[in-house]
Amino acid sequence: MHMDYAPILVNKTHPLPEDYEPADLVPANIPFAHSGSDNRNYMRRPAAQALETLFRDANAAGVTPIGISGYRSYKRQQEIYEGNLAVKGEMLTSLYSARPGQSEHQTGLAMDISAPSVQSALTTEVESTPEGQWLRENAHRYGFILRYPAGKEHITGYAYEPWHFRYVGRELAAFLKKKGLTLEEYYQLLAL
Ligand code: DAL
Ligand code: ZN
Repeated sequence: MHMDYAPILVNKTHPLPEDYEPADLVPANIPFAHSGSDNRNYMRRPAAQALETLFRDANAAGVTPIGISGYRSYKRQQEIYEGNLAVKGEMLTSLYSARPGQSEHQTGLAMDISAPSVQSALTTEVESTPEGQWLRENAHRYGFILRYPAGKEHITGYAYEPWHFRYVGRELAAFLKKKGLTLEEYYQLLAL
């Protein structure tokens, strides 16, 4: 496992500097719901490669996940957060949307993934789609974890997001999946 990128912890209490931008961002060659000129289809190289393998195997298993949002700059996250704030208010926004500097999407190691039967929406219903189920069972084999699981909201700081996957490398992903741990709990264990 490459300690430089794999387990980096970014959350409401572990922010990134405003100017943090990974050096090895590349486009992930997977189907996306939106085309656009921003870098939302980018991830750090090892994560992009693992995601491409994951999508290939998912397709071979008969499911067709769809990429929604990968890398987001500090500035892009600020636009998203402020847009949500204006529409949804502080309480709801803070459950689903990270403040700029506090989003894993700025690491280039996260990807939101949806499914055709929910029209590529980022909704809790992703959970019961064939794609959501396949991802929940198999993502760890490619180094990804379901980052914001149900029942751990008080630990992660976010509502259940069955669409948000985070690359941590295969070894750690398998460990966290087996133990049912979030990345926050893993760091608490390390600190013991
Ligand atoms: N939806 C996750 C928490 C983010 O905004 O990074
Ligand atoms: Zn996300």
